[in-house]
Amino acid sequence: MFSAMEGRDYLRIIPLAGAVGAAVFVAVYGALKLSRSGQVNHKYPTPKDQEKVKHVLDVEDLGDRTPFCRCWKSEKFPYCDGAHNEHNKTTGDNVGPIVMNRRNKSGSA
Ligand code: FES
Repeated sequence: MFSAMEGRDYLRIIPLAGAVGAAVFVAVYGALKLSRSGQVNHKYPTPKDQEKVKHVLDVEDLGDRTPFCRCWKSEKFPYCDGAHNEHNKTTGDNVGPIVMNRRNKSGSA
């Protein structure tokens, strides 16, 4: 097929080659974008010098009852601010905080 082609024939396939290239680019770009949609952390971009978002808290600084966010929607992350309620309502999810309770001296929470 290509051996019988002349210069003008090659010029005709340039738009086709461009269209195929653009389609491949869109498909690959879309696939990469979709693969990122599985991330839970959409709200807090990790600074470039950090591999992951990390919070270090001292247990002594926590109150008697401290709810921690597990939905990554809280404006007070890592603490829960109730944003999981809207997340659950819009997605049908049932996520909630992890609550740290300080035991009193008798050992009950
Ligand atoms: S806001 Fe995320 S678990 Fe409550």
